Amino acid sequence: MKHVAVLMGGWSAEREVSLSSGEACVEALKRCGYTVSAVDVTQNIAAVLEQIKPDVCFNALHGRYGEDGLIQGVLEIMGIPYTHSGVLASSLAMDKPVAKTLFAAVGIRCAEGRIFTRKEIMDGASYPKPFVIKPLNEGSSVGVTILLENENRSLVDIPWTFGSEVLIETYIPGREIQVAVMGDHALGAVEIRPLGRFYDYEAKYTSGKAEHLVPAPLPNDRYEEVLELALRAHQALGCRGVSRTDFRFNDTGDGSGDFYILETNTQPGMTALSLVPGIAANSGIGFEELVRWMVEDASCDR
Ligand SMILES: Nc1ncnc2c1ncn2[C@@H]1O[C@H](COP(=O)(O)OP(=O)(O)O)[C@@H](O)[C@H]1O
Ligand SMILES: [Mg+2]
Repeated sequence: MKHVAVLMGGWSAEREVSLSSGEACVEALKRCGYTVSAVDVTQNIAAVLEQIKPDVCFNALHGRYGEDGLIQGVLEIMGIPYTHSGVLASSLAMDKPVAKTLFAAVGIRCAEGRIFTRKEIMDGASYPKPFVIKPLNEGSSVGVTILLENENRSLVDIPWTFGSEVLIETYIPGREIQVAVMGDHALGAVEIRPLGRFYDYEAKYTSGKAEHLVPAPLPNDRYEEVLELALRAHQALGCRGVSRTDFRFNDTGDGSGDFYILETNTQPGMTALSLVPGIAANSGIGFEELVRWMVEDASCDR
């Protein structure tokens, strides 16, 4: 049986989430019969891998360095096959504004928005409410703030945690739909109903803070449509393996309305509460079968 190194942790803002994903995958891979090494990733990762010499790296990292093409570059150089997307796809997907230009180019509707520099905001730039302000390249809703019409706060009141630039998007009211893609087909869609104000970090990782409806209760034709959009997004970025694409659906109540893509996640969560495992289970693919498929699908870009 293959020796699989599960890469997890790291030092991004999503370290804790990655540790949960990683632990769940380590246990499942062991149950599949693989020899498994759990690796908490540091800047010394190349030396660690040189020593343990795995056949495959299972990438359970989230966020910077793990989801943006950087760790993928190290694995390419070392010639170790790895799960999920390669260097370019990871890097394109992680940069939300760049990914949006690619989505728009293949005809997928995106929320309107633009990049603002810190200086523009400090100089009093404005954007019509309601809007969403978010980092260009984080995940897990880290740093995402929504300002609705009836709020007194304005742009300058939001604590600046974004680096030199930030993305501001028009708020899309409606429902939250996410689609899992596995290889060359879309597996299914989930609807998330956060019980709080929006699908923030807490709702993502606390049991009972959001309701997950699988399959998403949409009319058949709309369900097929959003699956097709997610596959198109996955392919436009050149993704590999498993990905998850997030949408807003401004449902008018009668099943009409538009899907707006928010982002494609090349390293979707793999915790017990996570969405991709939930969607897979609904289509008859258990957690162990899912991680086994990922290991057997692992490769290098070249
Ligand atoms: N333009 C938008 N309109 C409405 N809600 C949004 C918008 N952008 C983000 N959100 C909300 O914030 C959450 C996180 O945003 P997302 O762009 O997916 O970033 P992250 O990479 O942090 O998951 C979404 O799941 C959604 O609930
Ligand atoms: Mg998201």
